Amino acid sequence: MRLFGFVFSLLLRLGIAYTLSEVETQISSYQAHNATYTAAPTPPSGCQLALSYPNSSTYEFEESRYWAQQQALTRPTCRFSPASPEEVSLAVLALRVTQCKFAVKSGGHAAFAGASNIDGGVTIDLINLNQITLSSDKTQASIGPGNVWYDVYNYLQPHNVTVIGGRVSAIGVGGLTLGGGMSFFSSQHGWACDNVNSYEVVLADGSIRQVSYSSPYSDLYWALRGGGNNFGIVTRFDLAAYPQGDLWAGSDAFLYTNETAAAINDAFYFLGINAPSDPYAQVIIAYAYAQSEDLFVIASDLQYAKPVANPPILQNFTSVPGAIASTLRITDLSNLTVEFNNSNPGGFRQTYWTFTVQNNAALMADMVAIYMEEIDAIKNVTGVGPSIIFQLITTDMTDHFSKNGGNALGLAGQGPLNLINVDISWSNASDDERVLAAAQNIVDRSVAVACAKGLDHPYLYQNYASYQQDVFASYGADNLAKLRSISTKYDPQRVWQKLQPGYFKLG
Ligand SMILES: Cc1cc2nc3c(=O)[nH]c(=O)nc-3n(C[C@H](O)[C@H](O)[C@H](O)COP(=O)(O)OP(=O)(O)OC[C@H]3O[C@@H](n4cnc5c(N)ncnc54)[C@H](O)[C@@H]3O)c2cc1C
Ligand SMILES: *[C@@H]1O[C@H](CO)[C@@H](O)[C@H](O)[C@H]1NC(C)=O
Ligand SMILES: *[C@@H]1O[C@H](CO)[C@@H](O)[C@H](O)[C@H]1NC(C)=O
Ligand SMILES: *[C@@H]1O[C@H](CO)[C@@H](O)[C@H](O)[C@H]1NC(C)=O
Ligand SMILES: *[C@@H]1O[C@H](CO)[C@@H](O)[C@H](O)[C@H]1NC(C)=O
Ligand SMILES: *[C@@H]1O[C@H](CO)[C@@H](O)[C@H](O)[C@H]1NC(C)=O
Ligand SMILES: *[C@@H]1O[C@H](CO)[C@@H](O)[C@H](O)[C@H]1NC(C)=O
Ligand SMILES: *[C@@H]1O[C@H](CO)[C@@H](O)[C@H](O)[C@H]1NC(C)=O
Ligand SMILES: *[C@@H]1O[C@H](CO)[C@@H](O)[C@H](O)[C@H]1NC(C)=O
Ligand SMILES: *[C@@H]1O[C@H](CO)[C@@H](O)[C@H](O)[C@H]1NC(C)=O
Repeated sequence: MRLFGFVFSLLLRLGIAYTLSEVETQISSYQAHNATYTAAPTPPSGCQLALSYPNSSTYEFEESRYWAQQQALTRPTCRFSPASPEEVSLAVLALRVTQCKFAVKSGGHAAFAGASNIDGGVTIDLINLNQITLSSDKTQASIGPGNVWYDVYNYLQPHNVTVIGGRVSAIGVGGLTLGGGMSFFSSQHGWACDNVNSYEVVLADGSIRQVSYSSPYSDLYWALRGGGNNFGIVTRFDLAAYPQGDLWAGSDAFLYTNETAAAINDAFYFLGINAPSDPYAQVIIAYAYAQSEDLFVIASDLQYAKPVANPPILQNFTSVPGAIASTLRITDLSNLTVEFNNSNPGGFRQTYWTFTVQNNAALMADMVAIYMEEIDAIKNVTGVGPSIIFQLITTDMTDHFSKNGGNALGLAGQGPLNLINVDISWSNASDDERVLAAAQNIVDRSVAVACAKGLDHPYLYQNYASYQQDVFASYGADNLAKLRSISTKYDPQRVWQKLQPGYFKLG
C-alpha cells in the first residue's frame, strides 16, 4: 500500500504519461538506486490533496458519501481523488505496477459492500471530476462522473434542456449510466446508456480514449452501454441534451387493499399496452410496509414530461379511489428528484434485488402476496423498510436500445416487460441474514410463479441487482461472449476483472 503511494507520487512528480512497461522500467531503476524507496519522495503540491488516509477530513468526508451503510463501513487503506483523466491514468498504471486492488466510486449508490469501495485497497473517488458544460447549440452536455444528477439538472434547467439520467437527485452519473439508466424520459429517448454520444475512458493500459459509435472503438462503445465497471474508468460522458420544461408528477399514496391493488395493477398492465400512444408518461408502482403503523401501503408514482395535469394516459391511475395523500403537481425536474431523494434516505443497511417478467396484472398480485408473506417474517427487524417496485420496460424504450449500433442489454425491440426491484433497508447488522433470506425468497418464489405461468424473462437489471445475481449471463449468450471478447481485446491482463474485484464481473 505504501508502495502504491510511492509509485503514484513518483509518477505525478515526473508528470508525463507513460506506458506500463516504461513505468515498470522507471520504478525498477528507481528502486535499484534507492534502497529506501518505500519512503515516498516529496510529492508535488496537490498530491497530498489527491491521496487521503483514514481519519483525515478528506477521507472521512468521502467515506460519508455512500448511500448504503455496508459501503460506508468499508475502509480502504487510502482514497485517491483524481482531478484529471491524466491522474486517473497514472493511478491505473501505479495500481498495476504495485498489483494493488482498487474500487471506483461515482455517486456511491450501489447497494452492497465492495461495489464502489474496498477494504484494504485503494478507492478512486471521482468526486473531483465534476465538470458540467453545455454545447452552444444546447444539443450536448459534457458531464464528469463526480456529479450527481441534481447538479446536472440544476445546471441545465435554466437553459430549458435536460439529459437522460437518474430520478433521484443524489444518484451518481457514473454507475447509473454504465448499468443502463432508467429516466423519466426513457420512453421518449431510451435509457441513459442510449444517449451517450461519447465516453472519455481511461483503459487498462493507461491510455485515454474518446469512445463513440463513429470512433475506431465502436465495439467498446457498445460494451460501455450496459457493461458496468468492466471496460475502463469513464472520466467524461458526452450526453445528448433535449428540450425540457416543467413536468406534472408526484405520488398518490394508498393503504393496501386487494381492490386498490387490483385497480392499480390493471392500470399498470394497460399502460404497458398503451404506452406507445403517449411516450411522455412514466409510472413507478411501489408496494411498501410501514413498520411504525404496521400497514402495507401502495405508492403510485406518476410522471408526465409536460406541464399538463392528469393527462388521459394516466387517468386509470388517478381514478383509483381512496388516495390518502398526493403530491401530484406541476414542478421542475430538480424539485422532483429531491422529492424522490427524501423518500430514499442514506445511512441504512440496504439490499437491492431484481428480476423481469412479462406484463401481467394477475402475476403482479401473486408477487405482492409472496412479498407480504415473506415480509411477515421480518416485521420485527429494527428499522425495516421493504418494498417491491414495478416499472414498465416499454416497447418505446426498447426501440431506442438499437440506436447507434445498439446497447449490450439484450432487450432491443422486446416488451412491454415488468422490471421488478425488491428493495429492503434496515438498521442493524445482526439482522442481515434474516433480511437477505427474505429478499432472496421473494425473488426465488416470484420467479418460480412466473415460470410456472410461462411469464418469466431472463433479464436482470445491473443497477438493481444484488451481488448474488448473474447480471451479464442475463444479457444472453451472444452478448456475454461479445462482452468477454471486447474485454480480452482492451484488457488482456484482466485489470478490471482481477485488480478491481467489486461489482458485477464478466466471469
Ligand atoms: C435511491 C436510489 C434511486 C435509484 N434510482 C434509479 C433510477 O432512477 N434509475 C436507474 O436506472 N437506477 C436507479 N438506481 C440504481 C442506480 O442506477 C445504481 O445504484 C447505480 O449503480 C448508482 O450509480 P452511482 O454512480 O451512484 O453508484 P456507485 O456506487 O458510485 O457506482 C456503481 C458502480 O459503477 C462503477 N462506476 C461508477 N462510475 C464509474 C466510472 N466513471 N467509470 C467506471 N466505473 C464506474 C463503480 O465502480 C461501481 O461498481 C437507484 C438507486 C438508488 C439507491
Ligand atoms: C534516489 O532518491 C534520492 C532521494 O530520494 C533522489 O534524489 C534520487 O534522484 C533517487 N535516485 C534515482 C535514480 O531515482
Ligand atoms: C483513527 O481514529 C480512531 C479513533 O480515534 C483510532 O482508533 C484509529 O486507530 C485511527 N486510525 C488511524 C489509521 O490512525
Ligand atoms: C426557458 O423557458 C422559459 C419558459 O418558457 C422562458 O421564460 C425562458 O426565457 C427560457 N430560457 C431560455 C434560456 O431559453
Ligand atoms: C386478498 O387477497 C389475498 C390473496 O389473493 C387473499 O388471501 C385475501 O383473503 C384477500 N383479502 C381480502 C380482504 O379479500
Ligand atoms: C384504462 O383501462 C381500461 C380498462 O379498464 C382500458 O381499456 C384502457 O385502455 C386503459 N387506458 C389506458 C390509457 O391505459
Ligand atoms: C418543490 O416544490 C414545492 C412546491 O411545488 C415546494 O414546496 C418545495 O419547497 C420545492 N422543493 C425544492 C427542493 O425546491
Ligand atoms: C439526498 O438525501 C440525503 C439524505 O439522505 C441528503 O444528505 C443529501 O444532501 C440529498 N442529496 C441531494 C442531492 O438532494
Ligand atoms: C421476530 O419475528 C420472527 C418471525 O415472526 C420470530 O421468529 C422472532 O422470534 C422474532 N424476534 C424477536 C426478537 O422478536
Ligand atoms: C442490534 O441487535 C442486537 C442483537 O439483537 C441488539 O442487542 C441491539 O440492541 C440492536 N441495536 C439496535 C440499534 O437496534
